[in-house]
Amino acid sequence: MYLQRRNRILRTNASIRSLVAETQLTPNDFIVPLFIDEGENVRTEITSMPGYFRMSLDLTLREVEELYKLGIKCVLLFVKTFDELKDNEGKEAWNPDGLMQRSIRAIKNAFPEMVVMTDVALDPYSIYGHDGIVIDGEIVNDETVEALVKMSLSHAQAGADFIAPSDMMDGRIGAMRHALEQNGYIKTGIMAYSAKYASCFYGPFRDALDSAPGFGDKKTYQMNYANRLEAIKETLMDIEEGADIVMVKPAMAYLDIIREIANTVNVPVSAYHVSGEYAMIKAAAKMGWIDENKAIIESLTSIKRAGAGLIATYYAKDAAKLLG
Ligand code: PBG
Repeated sequence: MYLQRRNRILRTNASIRSLVAETQLTPNDFIVPLFIDEGENVRTEITSMPGYFRMSLDLTLREVEELYKLGIKCVLLFVKTFDELKDNEGKEAWNPDGLMQRSIRAIKNAFPEMVVMTDVALDPYSIYGHDGIVIDGEIVNDETVEALVKMSLSHAQAGADFIAPSDMMDGRIGAMRHALEQNGYIKTGIMAYSAKYASCFYGPFRDALDSAPGFGDKKTYQMNYANRLEAIKETLMDIEEGADIVMVKPAMAYLDIIREIANTVNVPVSAYHVSGEYAMIKAAAKMGWIDENKAIIESLTSIKRAGAGLIATYYAKDAAKLLG
């Protein structure tokens, strides 16, 4: 054959392939979600997330140290709340001595360089397992935003670097930014879960925090996965309202959305490789049907290639080791 172009030249060997690789995954890209429990020396494996644990604060601190040594710069905190502390308003969410607030202080105190992000939503604190306050069977918006603002301020006061609202109420980013400014928290960032879809892939997470909705689903606040225009609208509004970083969630089934948002906005874009995505790889690997390590790196590289500069993933530690 006479060929003008031979594409395989650039795939000849590993050195050439690495020279022309467009996407490089590094531990700097990762945000590690941590599930924190009350007590001491508590380490509970999450049934639907084999190999992932909910840990008491003492063990969490050791985990954070290990992550930092692996080159990881950012953790995202979630706490499990005792049933007796749950109510409709989620009041425990802004208790200055709540588990979240104690955890933020302890981690920032021990590892000031570690960037601490905190999940802001009412579901782990709600008797209904919803991200908002429930009135007459409805998740009400404006009352919920008021509660979320209190929650945000208490995280900022405890020393969180970024608050990460995952609730999908309208107007919450603007309200939070306003409250942070008014109260002098001018260094606290906001990573908005902007395009958060109503997804079945959050199932294992709700096991981890015992936070599944007690009635109905989350479709009146989380987005319909059939839509993309809505994702752009939500994201642009969050930026206008004051978000520093925006997020698309889940990741693998939404790579088109990540790419479109990355092409559209002028702020860093993150993506959340969620619990169900972790569980799928784990399950197939356990059966011997896929190579887990290869699946981890391929998945995370694809998410970055799609346009996410930051990736929240339960596989961060494994990936950092594999990349090391
Ligand atoms: C809480 C929240 C959820 C997740 C992150 N923050 C659950 C939900 O919205 O139902 C899911 C994370 C995951 O599945 O890994 N609002």
